[in-house]
Amino acid sequence: MKFFVDTADINDIRELAETGLLDGVTTNPSLIHKSGRNFLEVVKEICGVVPGPVSAEVVAGDHATMMREAEILRRIADNIAVKVPLTIDGLKTCKALTGDGTMVNVTLCFTANQALLAAKAGATFISPFVGRHDDIGFDGMQIISEIRLIYDNYDYETQVLVASIRHPIHVLESAKIGADVITAPPAVIRQLFKHPLTDRGLESFAADWAKTGQTIG
Ligand code: E4P
Repeated sequence: MKFFVDTADINDIRELAETGLLDGVTTNPSLIHKSGRNFLEVVKEICGVVPGPVSAEVVAGDHATMMREAEILRRIADNIAVKVPLTIDGLKTCKALTGDGTMVNVTLCFTANQALLAAKAGATFISPFVGRHDDIGFDGMQIISEIRLIYDNYDYETQVLVASIRHPIHVLESAKIGADVITAPPAVIRQLFKHPLTDRGLESFAADWAKTGQTIG
């Protein structure tokens, strides 16, 4: 399973990229706002740090303007994935861009039927938002299972990119279902490394090792 980080914070991205475990980055207009940076500048910088796909989102609502925005975005770097919303215009844009060899991430997906449409439009990634579903009292992960089943039924190559992740259990469930990618905030990715028993075990090993009086090498 691939790990993307959902942020436009370049310091977080650099730090996580150093682990060697980061496969890509997703951004959205809210994350760009939070970063306080110029959109095109920060996306270009991110593309230089992470070789994998970096999602940059169009903001227009109509197909013609989306195509103009996508043209600017895809010129930033070869690893740009143009992010389009799951609307009729968004899917028209998706079909045109992927037909041209550009990676496209279809975002704001909330049903398996929407994901089916995105696959038919040739999307590289479909981003179902699990956390926002949970927030309103539905089971976001259920949709991931449905999408996995449907894509496997028809051998669609669109990658299931689980988005709007809130906690490590979303990551675990995504892996069990067989999602292709997760995108999570930096804090959730850092949580994945942690366990109190790992910390406690390290402390006792370090204490016992000190008592041996030995060094390695
Ligand atoms: C995905 O690409 C989105 O940027 C993101 O996961 C949305 O998450 P949120 O619901 O926490 O805003």
